[in-house]
Amino acid sequence: MQPLHSLRLTSLLVAIMMAVIPAFVSGASKPHIVTIILDDWGYNNWGYRAKGLANRLEVKTPNLDQLAAKGLVLDRHYTASICTPTRAAFQTGRNPIHVDASNGVEARFNPADPISGFEGIPTNMTVIAEKMKAAGYRTHFVGKWHVGHASRRQLPSARGYSTSLAYFNAQNDFWSYAAIAGICSPNNNLLTDLWQHNATTSTDGPAVTLKPNSTCAYTQNNCLYGDELYQQRASQVIMSHDPKKPLFLVWAPHAIHSPLEPPAARFDEFAFINDNTARRNYAATLADIDMRIGMIIQNLKSKKIWSSSLVVVMSDNGGPISFAGGASNYPLRGGKYGNFEGGARVNALVSGGYLPQARRGAVATGLIAAEDWYATYCALAGQDPVDSKASKAGLPPVDSINMWPYLSGQVSWCNTGGVCMYAAAQSVGLLRGSTLLTCCRALLSDPSLRLNCGDPQKATTSPYTGVCLFDVFTDPTESTNLAQNATRQQDIARLAQRIVSINKTVFAPDRGAIPANLVDSVACKYAVANLSGFEGPWLA
Ligand SMILES: *[C@@H]1O[C@H](CO)[C@@H](O)[C@H](O)[C@H]1NC(C)=O
Ligand SMILES: *[C@@H]1O[C@H](CO)[C@@H](O)[C@H](O)[C@H]1NC(C)=O
Ligand SMILES: *[C@@H]1O[C@H](CO)[C@@H](O)[C@H](O)[C@H]1NC(C)=O
Ligand SMILES: *[C@@H]1O[C@H](CO)[C@@H](O)[C@H](O)[C@H]1NC(C)=O
Ligand SMILES: *[C@@H]1O[C@H](CO)[C@@H](O)[C@H](O)[C@H]1NC(C)=O
Ligand SMILES: *[C@@H]1O[C@H](CO)[C@@H](O)[C@H](O)[C@H]1NC(C)=O
Repeated sequence: MQPLHSLRLTSLLVAIMMAVIPAFVSGASKPHIVTIILDDWGYNNWGYRAKGLANRLEVKTPNLDQLAAKGLVLDRHYTASICTPTRAAFQTGRNPIHVDASNGVEARFNPADPISGFEGIPTNMTVIAEKMKAAGYRTHFVGKWHVGHASRRQLPSARGYSTSLAYFNAQNDFWSYAAIAGICSPNNNLLTDLWQHNATTSTDGPAVTLKPNSTCAYTQNNCLYGDELYQQRASQVIMSHDPKKPLFLVWAPHAIHSPLEPPAARFDEFAFINDNTARRNYAATLADIDMRIGMIIQNLKSKKIWSSSLVVVMSDNGGPISFAGGASNYPLRGGKYGNFEGGARVNALVSGGYLPQARRGAVATGLIAAEDWYATYCALAGQDPVDSKASKAGLPPVDSINMWPYLSGQVSWCNTGGVCMYAAAQSVGLLRGSTLLTCCRALLSDPSLRLNCGDPQKATTSPYTGVCLFDVFTDPTESTNLAQNATRQQDIARLAQRIVSINKTVFAPDRGAIPANLVDSVACKYAVANLSGFEGPWLA
């Protein structure tokens, strides 16, 4: 469980604040929906933001810049500060604390709880693809899954996707597809992390035929770069799609997550970055994925479905800014793993011909969170976002709010009685306890790299010495701690109370004990013996 001091209050409040906006009733036919979830994309690693800045030559993203110019930039899109919580929020429409706020060890499980007793999304929560499939969509997943694979009931095949080509962990090797930090960790080369299924052919298993030549391990000769493999699959899905049916494609590339292993030609392109290899690798990996995003856009256009498509691009969290991370979130403070804006306020945009003309080239400053896509997509598909399967199993309900009325320009974010006032009063991020100034777990133990917000236990008692308070609207770089400011004491009191009540809603099932030695775990042994040496589910 994520400790509460690392809960970002702002993103949870989005749902609460948007609740008064009326539901959207779609008259038009259902759009094709393509979601691109980039991994560890830094706020400033986008030419749209870097133009005019010193690092602009390191940020080669012409296609993402074009999408910004012709689409709607979401300037306050919030996520968790790490992968799984954001991806689980996107898939289920729950705030991360209501689905899985941990980024945990995948090899554990609790046999007493077959619904929630493992990492990732509980089996009886309805995932977005199930809603879209029920609405007639053809549903496909490609790339990083990372929302649970202990049980077959957690895989894309059991979650409403008709086809998938996925890796399960936070990362695999870009060239060998070897599992990294998986169920046999730290013995990375024991397993390959690549799985595919196709409902039409009733296949669902290790992607044995895609396993590369053994000489590919950590080299590039005659090998297929992971993001090329996933992009090729996404392209194939689009090009073979029957345009009379609505398309729902989630493409979650590996870029720009570690291990940064860009194609050699890309690496050479950024030879001028000669003071930090991580930053050079990051720049090269980013440029590569930007090119592939351009290819996917081109596929939609040549297939002649661009005009009826909605394309959403977002990052799963802020960029990793440690020396080995290579990203930049300038001018935001902090990065991945941290609770400042640099960890949680991420790049996002909406584009495609389905976006109303008046919203193209605009910037939306209203708050939106990763979990809000669920109800937004349900509304576009004509589906009720309510999750009765989850409620039967006693699981938390959907938090997601349909943002289409705002995104499409029908309503302004603050148009209804009380919302502006409420939003203004809540336009603060409250940080409790000690929070990280940098992204990097290796640095967690160095207290000089933390901002000490005091003792969280004292934070509910005036004069609130146990908190940090920033007004992220007037002070987007979070430079002034307002916790001691007399005019803010009521804000703090109210937010502190909200944390206490929200804390009571945290979903933290017993996910089982972490095996002492993963290589000897039931999960690892099963994969070696029964899954052809591939990362995958060991439970039915
Ligand atoms: C799934 O299988 C069908 C039937 O063989 C095939 O036409 C389709 O292209 C496959 N889909 C993917 C994404 O591989
Ligand atoms: C495997 O790699 C070697 C060395 O690069 C190459 O000669 C061989 O053709 C490759 N085999 C396959 C099946 O790709
Ligand atoms: C969970 O879902 C399964 C499969 O749909 C169903 O059989 C089971 O009854 C559900 N469990 C609960 C507690 O609702
Ligand atoms: C306290 O907050 C008020 C209102 O936000 C601001 O005008 C004032 O400058 C702050 N005082 C200090 C000492 O920061
Ligand atoms: C949140 O709930 C947990 C578990 O009940 C408890 O240990 C913790 O003290 C609570 N934190 C706050 C700030 O209320
Ligand atoms: C492999 O699968 C079989 C059949 O389900 C099972 O009995 C056996 O325990 C598995 N092997 C390992 C090493 O888990």
